[in-house]
Formats: sequence, structure tokens, C-alpha cells
Amino acid sequence: MRKRMIAGNWKMNETYSEGVVLARGLAKELEAGTGDVDVVVCPPAVDLKGVSEVIEQESAPFALGAQNVYWEEKGAFTGETAPGMLTNIGATHCIIGHSERRGYFGETDEDINKKAKALMAHGIVPISCCGESLEVREAGMHVEFVVEQIKADTAGLTIDDPSRYVIAYEPIWAIGTGKTATADDAQEVCGAIRKTLAEVFGQETADGIRILYGGSAKPENVAGFLEKEDVDGALVGGASLKADSFAAMVKVVM
Ligand code: PGA
Repeated sequence: MRKRMIAGNWKMNETYSEGVVLARGLAKELEAGTGDVDVVVCPPAVDLKGVSEVIEQESAPFALGAQNVYWEEKGAFTGETAPGMLTNIGATHCIIGHSERRGYFGETDEDINKKAKALMAHGIVPISCCGESLEVREAGMHVEFVVEQIKADTAGLTIDDPSRYVIAYEPIWAIGTGKTATADDAQEVCGAIRKTLAEVFGQETADGIRILYGGSAKPENVAGFLEKEDVDGALVGGASLKADSFAAMVKVVM
């Protein structure tokens, strides 16, 4: 049985002090617990330590995730963050391969694969993103496109505990646009992702890996996605920036 996951991607929003306030607000909203749902918040790098302290002080029922990582241990890589730096401040999860990083910063499947391996070597759970552009979707090639991303992103990975590797399917045309995929659109691709994972890692491992949907997910539509067989949660951008709307999404699927 896969545990549901709701992860918030703050992107480049919230200063350190704003992030602390948002995390405190979320801790308050969720003080009664999150039931069977794993909740993760992914603030900008400079906010991580502050949010980590809030989680500790408030015994908040959510985990801390970063939005990016570099695969080297340390050294002359100006501007980058090593996996060991994340674990040291209490981060347990990390988004990799977000379409904004692929699109604006040239991140490749090969980079994403190296990042996944480095994170897993440090016991950090990757939330590895995939998803097609509008052009690919309109050409009817979305399933093939995402399957190729999954194969490349997972090449040579060893997954001992499938609950510690997470995929997020985020059709690019639905991110921040208010345009959501339908639950059936999400299931079509998430089902194909699980089938691919079964070919690569075996059915048992594939059945244990959570696949999240992302792209204009909000309190009003999240439950519909999670009714689908292969959708195990949501990666939330915009709606994660308000404690009440993000907490509402957790409560709807608890
Ligand atoms: P959105 O972003 O919920 O604002 O569409 C999702 C994401 O990019 O992770």
C-alpha cells in the first residue's frame, strides 16, 4: 500500500522571514496531524534552515525538502548545494528535474540521474519530475516522451526501498497556468510511468514508488486526481504558498 504524499514547491518565493511565518502557519493548520499522508515542504535554499527550526520547535508533521542539489560532495562549484549540506540541516527530500530547471537552466536527464544517485547515497528522497510540453502533447507523443524521461532519469539506479524514491508527473502546459490536466490525463501518463518502472525495477518495486501529479493542483481538484489508481499524491506550486490552502489539500486526501 502506497502512502499518499502532498509536497509543496515554494519555488523562488518567500524570503527567510516570510518562509518562517509560512512554515509556522502550516504547523498550526496541521497541528492535529496529517493522518496517513506524508507532507513535505520545499522552500528556497536560503529558507531551509529556518523552516527546519520551525519543524523542530513546533514538532510539525511535515518533512523538509530542497528544490535542487548538486551531485558532488564538496569543492569548487560556486552557487551549488551538496547532498551532505542538505542532510546536515534536516532536509530529507529534494525535488530534481523540475521543468523550470530543465527549461531555464538546461538541466538534462543525465544531470537528473546523477542527482538522484547522489541524493539516495545520502538517504535523501528524490522527488524526480517529468512531463511534456504543450507541443509534445498536441502531437500525441506525451506518453512516449515521458517514458523516455523516466528511463533516462532512472538508468542504473538501485532502489532498495521504493517508498524512498518519488516521481512527479507535471505536464508543463498545466504548471502555473490554471489549466489542469484531467484526472484521466494524469492517470494515462502515471499508469505508463508505473509500467515503465515495472520493466526497469520489477513489479514489486514499481508498486511501492509514489507517483505525484503536479500542475495547478488545488484544494478543489486534488481529490479527483488521487482517486486514480496510479496517482499517489500531488506536487503543489501556487497553492502551497498559503498555509490554509495547502493544509486544505492535505485534509481533503487524509
Ligand atoms: P503549480 O506548480 O501548482 O503552481 O502549477 C506545480 C509545480 O511546478 O511544481
